[in-house]
Amino acid sequence: MAPLPPTRSGAEHRQADLAHAGLAELHREDPELAGLLDAEVHDQDTTLAMVASSSIAAPSVLAASGSALSNVTAEGYPGARYHPGAVNFDEVERLAVRRATALFGARYANVQPHSCSSANLAVLAALVPPGGTLLGLDLDSGGHLTHGSPASVTGRHYRAVHYGLDTSGRIDYGQVAELAAAHRPAVLIAGASAYPRIIDFARFRRIADSVGAYLLADISHVAGLVAAGEHPSPVDHAHITTTSTYKQLGGPRGGLILSGRDHRAPGPDGRTPLDRLMQQAVFPQSQGTPAPASIAAKARAFALAAEPLFARTARLTVSGARALAAELACRGHRVLTGGTDNHMVLIDLRDSRLTGVVAERALEECGILVNRNRIPDDTRPPLVTSGIRLGCNVLAQRGMGPEHMRECAELMHAVLAATTPLSDTEYVIEPHQRVRLREHVRALCARHPLPHATARAAARDALRTGTSL
Ligand SMILES: Cc1ncc(COP(=O)(O)O)c(C=O)c1O
Repeated sequence: MAPLPPTRSGAEHRQADLAHAGLAELHREDPELAGLLDAEVHDQDTTLAMVASSSIAAPSVLAASGSALSNVTAEGYPGARYHPGAVNFDEVERLAVRRATALFGARYANVQPHSCSSANLAVLAALVPPGGTLLGLDLDSGGHLTHGSPASVTGRHYRAVHYGLDTSGRIDYGQVAELAAAHRPAVLIAGASAYPRIIDFARFRRIADSVGAYLLADISHVAGLVAAGEHPSPVDHAHITTTSTYKQLGGPRGGLILSGRDHRAPGPDGRTPLDRLMQQAVFPQSQGTPAPASIAAKARAFALAAEPLFARTARLTVSGARALAAELACRGHRVLTGGTDNHMVLIDLRDSRLTGVVAERALEECGILVNRNRIPDDTRPPLVTSGIRLGCNVLAQRGMGPEHMRECAELMHAVLAATTPLSDTEYVIEPHQRVRLREHVRALCARHPLPHATARAAARDALRTGTSL
């Protein structure tokens, strides 16, 4: 391990010693598991990850998420825990809250949700009475399961009404207003899992206000762009904003709840302010103990997201995605909405011979990761689908921008052209082409290494020259 700078207090580097001992123990006592973990690093190095929800966490985020803080059991909030031994955790959670509010210009943050799904469930439970109505984007139009899909408890415990897209593939705001007026939902949800365009949160808020609904903005997919100013922020438009922390924020698996100017607005009882309601909604109403090491990792990720490099990467993500959409369209692929404003590109495969799952698997065989995705009016089942969803988060983290997208699009196009479907789920790729394309992807990845490759090489050199701790 590379030598560490001295601690401020002159104390020992106990967490680093622990991490080092842990890795040594893992390799000594459980080579099977250690081998799998090493294989994962190798795979991430040598594949082009274009799953729109993925990003690469910094080594310091991963280190914090594996820290001894994980051993702390402490229900409740800083200064009001139900267990002893939370002195350091209290400070870490306060730090994470401070950094989250500063990053998003929010007035309130809850860093305890274990995921964005659990954050959404907590928020909805606090704002919608059992059997009450919520209005969200339809799953097939790009919404998320927790926005009222019948496959989620949100579709069973609430009366879910859904809006969709207009003929250009953009959110049909007219329909949102009509459905809101007809159904008077308790909560209107703005946010999506598969939507490549800017979301007009101000317009959503006007619709919510017109029917006395709370507006929940779910920015799970675009939180990094929002933090970097590359997508309009919902924080002062929505009553409540939720996000995952592992997607564009580059943090650990986890969720986050934010509120802006409306953080003291009354909840459904007309009295309890929203910030207090959210505290209760997470603990004790929907979660038990928080995950202290994950909260430390969130604090670290929020700090990194406030740095200039993060903003530069966000800009590269959007410009890269735009270029990728254009390059794919040039090669005859049907790009939904004709392009993108964010990190995501959606491809309709219905004119091709391939299904979503066949395209996903063929690309994976050649080292390119994208995911199958249902598209509007899709007649194929969710495990098959007629579309794929691509994202440029990790490409931008590799330093790849618009000038590299011709090569990426060409590679994808070549894989899909070399794929012959045998059924909706079976296919063959011409073997010579598969080997050639896989090698090409490997070489491309080597030319644009992951952001932590340099730090890893430095750590390895330090070990070799005996400067390890
Ligand atoms: C819009 C949206 N909300 C919520 C989620 C759920 O996030 P998590 O994986 O943190 O539960 C997703 C996941 O992809 C999403 O796209």
